[in-house]
Amino acid sequence: MEKEDLPLFAEWFSTPEVTGEYNPLHQMSKAGAEKMLENPHERKPFIIQKKDGSKIGFVTHFCVLHPAGKLLEIGYSLVPNERGKGYCTEAVEIMLDYLFLSRDTMRIQACTDTRNHASQKVLEKAGFKKEGTMRKYLFIRGQLRDSIVYSILREEWKEPKILTETI
Ligand SMILES: CC(C)(COP(=O)(O)OP(=O)(O)OC[C@H]1O[C@@H](n2cnc3c(N)ncnc32)[C@H](O)[C@@H]1OP(=O)(O)O)[C@@H](O)C(=O)NCCC(=O)NCCS
Repeated sequence: MEKEDLPLFAEWFSTPEVTGEYNPLHQMSKAGAEKMLENPHERKPFIIQKKDGSKIGFVTHFCVLHPAGKLLEIGYSLVPNERGKGYCTEAVEIMLDYLFLSRDTMRIQACTDTRNHASQKVLEKAGFKKEGTMRKYLFIRGQLRDSIVYSILREEWKEPKILTETI
């Protein structure tokens, strides 16, 4: 994500139609997005861009527990009219290649609401394994909801699917 994308990212992150019905409501200002980019321990967003240049969503990675622990988690959202075309699966596969090639991490995880079947499909197609259910994990639209935790280990990723090297 470039600085010029900050307003778009802040807008998407604050728009329930983009973050979807299975995520808590968020609000992010452009200043908040700028701070996030500058802080090395914060969420790192990448814009998902089609070959024609249009920007259709984002995939982020962030540290779980402590940055020194090298345990990473990812999250993602697409604008509604670009869903169901395989873009998110491809973006997640690229993100896995990028993180395993560029970081010394053994494990990447993702959490998704038990009702979010599209997200579960994305993770399974990208090679994640289901680990279990975290009960009443997120407060979503007035209720505490269960989430499923998925993970992929370095030895399960084996080799890059799309990216071959990182700068
Ligand atoms: C989750 C999300 C990112 C998926 O993006 P996407 O680009 O549509 O995903 P893909 O097209 O790569 O794959 C989606 C898969 O889920 C399937 N799917 C979609 N809706 C589904 C549903 N309601 N039930 C079951 N499967 C569903 C699709 O058929 C597809 O599988 P297929 O390739 O075998 O046909 C998108 O729906 C989204 O942005 N949702 C709102 C934000 C969100 O929930 N983010 C995840 C938080 S954990």
